[in-house]
Amino acid sequence: MPLVTTEKMFKMAYKNGYAVGAFNVNNMEITQGIASAVTEEKAPLILQVSRGARDYASNSFLKAIIDVVVAENPDIPIAIHLDHGDSFETAKQFVDDGFTSVMIDASSQPFEENIRVTKEVVEYAHAREVVVEAELGQLGGIEEDVVGVKDISAHLTDPEQAVEFVKKSGCDSLAVACGTSHGAYKFKSEPKLAFDVIQKISNKLPGFPLVMHGSSSVLKEFKDLINKYGGDMPDAMGVPEEAISKAAKMAICKVNIDTDLRMALTAKIRQVFAEKPSEFDPRKYLGPGRQAIKEMVKHKLHVLGCAGKAAECM
Ligand code: G3H
Ligand code: 13P
Ligand code: ZN
Repeated sequence: MPLVTTEKMFKMAYKNGYAVGAFNVNNMEITQGIASAVTEEKAPLILQVSRGARDYASNSFLKAIIDVVVAENPDIPIAIHLDHGDSFETAKQFVDDGFTSVMIDASSQPFEENIRVTKEVVEYAHAREVVVEAELGQLGGIEEDVVGVKDISAHLTDPEQAVEFVKKSGCDSLAVACGTSHGAYKFKSEPKLAFDVIQKISNKLPGFPLVMHGSSSVLKEFKDLINKYGGDMPDAMGVPEEAISKAAKMAICKVNIDTDLRMALTAKIRQVFAEKPSEFDPRKYLGPGRQAIKEMVKHKLHVLGCAGKAAECM
């Protein structure tokens, strides 16, 4: 099976009440850990590359690693996606590089400008059989323009606007702001998602796939290891897994996870460094990190409900 777009995955995910995991990749070990998890769990997969990942590892290296994963997994549908494309030029470059899905994130722009640039990307991508994710509303974290926003609720996606946006831009899926944010510090107190916003949007756009960014759970196991072995993340807090499962049963068809991968790798590297200070073979600390990612992703696939769903998404 060659690389696929997300079209069939989202159709099945919507119909059958689950979400597909979209995992950020930055190097070989992270990619291998994710790949072996989906192979064992027979889940559809979205591997995504951010601009930061491309700057770090280069698109050709990451694409080559992903191509190996695709070649080795003929029974797993795999989409390769640009995460948070910041301009038409970036999206065009990833389309030209063979990605099957691109995100154009113009959510910090005024509404009409967001529609205009999204439509421009849609026209280019669709002509080349590539699908487009757009974003409406504002999350915290990497969206630098909105860092410092105190009241996330003021920036949640407006359901009325979502309808107009999807109609006018022609995007294939929409990332919505529903209370999550990027990174390891999502909530200061009780974690809360705006399920009513998700429901209102899906009522107005029945059958249309929505995307949830900032969906890491900040797993206790890895947070504790990091803090135990010299790290400093005492206040880290993520989205509870029950909330992820609930969203996955609704119109959320794609769930973005990066922070949990980073924390799993970091926790294991810290543990090896602390317990075996004489160790200097990178395979001896990257290997356990890769294994931890695999186990963690296997678990996530069940939280998302997409374990065992590879065949129906082909
Ligand atoms: O949503 C953002 C992802 O976590 C990617 O982050 O830009 O640091 O690679 P990055
Ligand atoms: P997390 O930081 O919660 O993993 O979110 C990642 C993400 O949304 C990538 O686009
Ligand atoms: Zn994101």
